Amino acid sequence: MKSRRVGIVGAGNVGATVAYSLAMKGVSHEIILRDNKIERAKGMALDMSQAANAARQHTVVSVAEDMSELSDCDVIVITAGSPRLPGMSRDDLLMVNANIIAEVVEDISKYSPDAILVPVTNPLDAMVYTAVRKTGWDRNRIIGMAGILDSARMAHFIYEKVGYGSGQIRASVMGGHGDDMVPLPRFSTIAGVPLTDLLTDEEIEEIVEKTRHGGAQIVSYLKTGSAYYAPAKSTAIMVEAILKDTKQIFPCAVMLDGEYGFKNVVSGVPVALGSRGIEKIIEVSLNEKQQKQFKKSIDSVRSLIDTLNKNNFFDK
Ligand code: NAI
Ligand code: 2OP
Repeated sequence: MKSRRVGIVGAGNVGATVAYSLAMKGVSHEIILRDNKIERAKGMALDMSQAANAARQHTVVSVAEDMSELSDCDVIVITAGSPRLPGMSRDDLLMVNANIIAEVVEDISKYSPDAILVPVTNPLDAMVYTAVRKTGWDRNRIIGMAGILDSARMAHFIYEKVGYGSGQIRASVMGGHGDDMVPLPRFSTIAGVPLTDLLTDEEIEEIVEKTRHGGAQIVSYLKTGSAYYAPAKSTAIMVEAILKDTKQIFPCAVMLDGEYGFKNVVSGVPVALGSRGIEKIIEVSLNEKQQKQFKKSIDSVRSLIDTLNKNNFFDK
């Protein structure tokens, strides 16, 4: 059987935690970390390989000193990015990270041309769009992580509100990874019981607002960075579904091609994940309010894509 290779570009908080999460479960045989901070990545790779031995797992974690060593990977997670620095606008950060993604995917196209990519870098939806446009690959092979995270946050806030059902809550969030994301109480349940049967409209609205600001809440506590445990676990879930060809359905950020009435824009929608990446995009029926919210979220992502276009980013 083919040995499974997972590449992780950007071994910072999220990337390293994805690697650790995969290694502790033995999801792949090899994990290769790539980061500009090579010595730090080497230390983490050794530490994780040793942790895998402690966990009686077969995973070996190593470091690519150069992108060419990230060859023949089955899946590559991209968490490389710059944080927002003082004096930098959101648009500045967009351009900085889009340039990083463009550079990274150019190398991946050379050295792992058959890989499935899982971008995580923010602004997520615009980065997935960048990766699809810059590689020219089939959209099925580039699937961004955000929806599993946002849904997990919503599930936690549902638990906080009701005080029972932890681990039995299935929450559903669609749309872009931003303040305009679209939490879907109608498709959220506790042990199969619809949320709308358990809570009032006001209580549900409170959960929706908390979910939209879940990332910012953690930043306000951490101060020097953003969340990484839930983002990493959510990413590892996607990698496992792809490698094991489970065809399980998760909300993922993908290029739309007519689904939900939109084209040439990325948004979070339910996707069956398997060895070909996107196996199927599921179109659930949204009510009028949800359709409006989804459109608003699409418009936000479009405005970022417009900024990239204004800077002639895709002409280079
Ligand atoms: P971090 O700053 O800890 O890690 C980023 C890493 O990327 C650093 O180690 C840096 O050295 C590396 N890097 C930068 N440019 C590189 C390049 N060209 N090649 C290789 N490595 C490079 O940040 P963290 O917390 O790990 O977050 C990573 C990204 O993921 C950020 O953009 C963050 O906003 C995003 N994020 C997205 C989430 C989502 O739901 N989509 C959730 C959490 C984080
Ligand atoms: C989060 O939602 C920063 O996108 C990141 O935690």
